Amino acid sequence: MTIATTNPAAEAALHTMLEDVITGLSQGQKTLPSKYFYDERGSKLFDDICELDEYYLTRTESSLMQARVGDIASVIGPNALLVEYGSGSSLKTRLLLRNLVQPAGYVPIDISGEYLSQVGHSLKAEFPEIEIMPVVADFTKSFAIPSPSVEEARRVIYFPGSTIGNFQRDDAKMLLAGMADNAGPIGGVLIGVDLDKDRDVLRSAYNDSKGVTAEFNLNVLKRINDELGGGFDLAKFRHDAVFNNVHSCIEMHLISTQRQTVKVCTYSFEFEENETILTEYSHKYTVDAFGLMANDVGLDVKNVWTDSNNMFAVMYLERA
Ligand code: AVI
Repeated sequence: MTIATTNPAAEAALHTMLEDVITGLSQGQKTLPSKYFYDERGSKLFDDICELDEYYLTRTESSLMQARVGDIASVIGPNALLVEYGSGSSLKTRLLLRNLVQPAGYVPIDISGEYLSQVGHSLKAEFPEIEIMPVVADFTKSFAIPSPSVEEARRVIYFPGSTIGNFQRDDAKMLLAGMADNAGPIGGVLIGVDLDKDRDVLRSAYNDSKGVTAEFNLNVLKRINDELGGGFDLAKFRHDAVFNNVHSCIEMHLISTQRQTVKVCTYSFEFEENETILTEYSHKYTVDAFGLMANDVGLDVKNVWTDSNNMFAVMYLERA
């Protein structure tokens, strides 16, 4: 396929997407990477998910942060450099920035340069006293963290939203190890972790009654159609989210409702009736299991804050 755009970076991104799609759909268990949910429409659908009654994660983490931000700020201490992985709109971080004592700076890291520069400008206006140093990067790869003009007491890596749950355990461990390196010997990691809980609560959170999560999941096929000239008939796929007891995670699938062949560029993919594409993992941890995973990469759990129903945890990790 010839992918021709006026922007070389966009062209390279489309090539990578095509490779990922072909690789994923060629496996025994067909897969598509969950990062492709998030174009403009997908990001808007994700914001809608966060407002759903069944999707307890966002509001639970937000109220937890609001209730405990004073404690969190004192554990982090004065003059910290806050580095946020996958900062997006930096919504949750504003609360933290308002409560930290004389932060040395804030480094939002996001893959979308355009979005990051907009958010960077509004943060600079909102927090003129804090040095804001946006970095365009894929946080799963290595990148350099800028030094602030005032001396930092420590670096704290912030990774809210339980996005760590979307990584398979080995990848989650690698990511935590990278955070430990980036935080340095006296730094820390502040991370949001969705906790293991009643299966019905979990299944409803990912199979909401309004069908927003289904739209979000199907959006990956829409993107393949729109951006790669794919031939998916969205009406011939349905969403389902199941709980995998062995790995303690929600798995999101797109199920082919009939036997069919789908073309993407010059490639053809055969689907049996009820064959699925696995699109996302969302791992659920106990505080202890997450702590053990952190220990494996040389991090100790220093503090854990949970809500009264034990739905969600915000954890502060330091080098052992
Ligand atoms: C971004 N991430 C933490 C969400 C989650 O809950 O795993 C993504 C999501 N998928 C479906 N609903 C929300």
